[in-house]
Amino acid sequence: MVDTTRIVKEIQEKYNIIGRTEELKQIVLAHAVGKNILLEGNVGVGKTTLAKAISEYYGSDASNFYRVDCSEELLPHNLVGYFDPPLVIAKGYVEDSYKYGPLTLAMINGGCLFINEINRMPESTQNSLLTSLDEGILEISKLKTIRAHKDFFVIATQNPAAHVGVTILGEALKDRFIWINLDYQTPEEEFLIIKQEAKMNSNNADKLAKISQSIIQITRESTSIRRGSSIRGAIDLATLVNQYDNSNSSKNWVEATVMALYNKIELEDGLTQSKKEIITNIVLAVLNKSDFQ
Ligand SMILES: Nc1ncnc2c1ncn2[C@@H]1O[C@H](COP(=O)(O)OP(=O)(O)O)[C@@H](O)[C@H]1O
Ligand SMILES: [Mg+2]
Repeated sequence: MVDTTRIVKEIQEKYNIIGRTEELKQIVLAHAVGKNILLEGNVGVGKTTLAKAISEYYGSDASNFYRVDCSEELLPHNLVGYFDPPLVIAKGYVEDSYKYGPLTLAMINGGCLFINEINRMPESTQNSLLTSLDEGILEISKLKTIRAHKDFFVIATQNPAAHVGVTILGEALKDRFIWINLDYQTPEEEFLIIKQEAKMNSNNADKLAKISQSIIQITRESTSIRRGSSIRGAIDLATLVNQYDNSNSSKNWVEATVMALYNKIELEDGLTQSKKEIITNIVLAVLNKSDFQ
């Protein structure tokens, strides 16, 4: 049995993770039984932050962790490795001529491989992961078959399939992961995240963080908005507002909120109001609430 509570607390403290206690518990349990983990959630919910903390935590036990950020250009050899042509000419197809990739190194050394935004990985590259995840075996043609160290472990993140511009992760690969969904955190936790992450030096940091959290909260509840802002929007907003001489001015709040959220929210179709007007109304409604007067 693993001491989940202790490990979760350790991860939260070491990597400044606020909350996510339930999700961390699930991750620690999955890891304890040798399962790979896929974190899914909208842009800005904290997937990368959490996965990075986990991979460093478990990777440092094995003194190594490997990170891959996916794009359409990530080819199998970027993950697995390749024979270096000049070395092959000089020495032939031998170990010395081979440049190991992060997947192979993590398998050999028993490290953690962190695959960020795995849904952006081309299908051919996804396929090169299958046998490693499945059976812990990776065949390197002309060289050798690699068998994964017992501590080899993969944690990946992805945006939900409903998200625009996202390719769907192959069923075969998805099957190899324990799936953990990340939703928005509670207002109280978000408040603490804003205070921790936004660069605020003023003595009214509490107030700025509270207002910023309320604003993004309303963007999620508004019927005019299809996709509201994540915590990242509130962090940007609080950081910006803190730069103004007068953070009590509603004009400054509106300006900063438009700057911080304009590209982070998506409106419903067929509205008569502009995005700027909708943002302005939200800010004014929040500022008029009695607790912020
Ligand atoms: N639980 C949390 N504790 C501390 N900071 C967090 C937490 N969740 C999110 N953040 C902060 O929010 C921002 C966005 O998180 P990120 O991991 O980049 O999101 P994603 O990868 O889902 O797009 C980062 O600045 C991160 O530090
Ligand atoms: Mg990310």
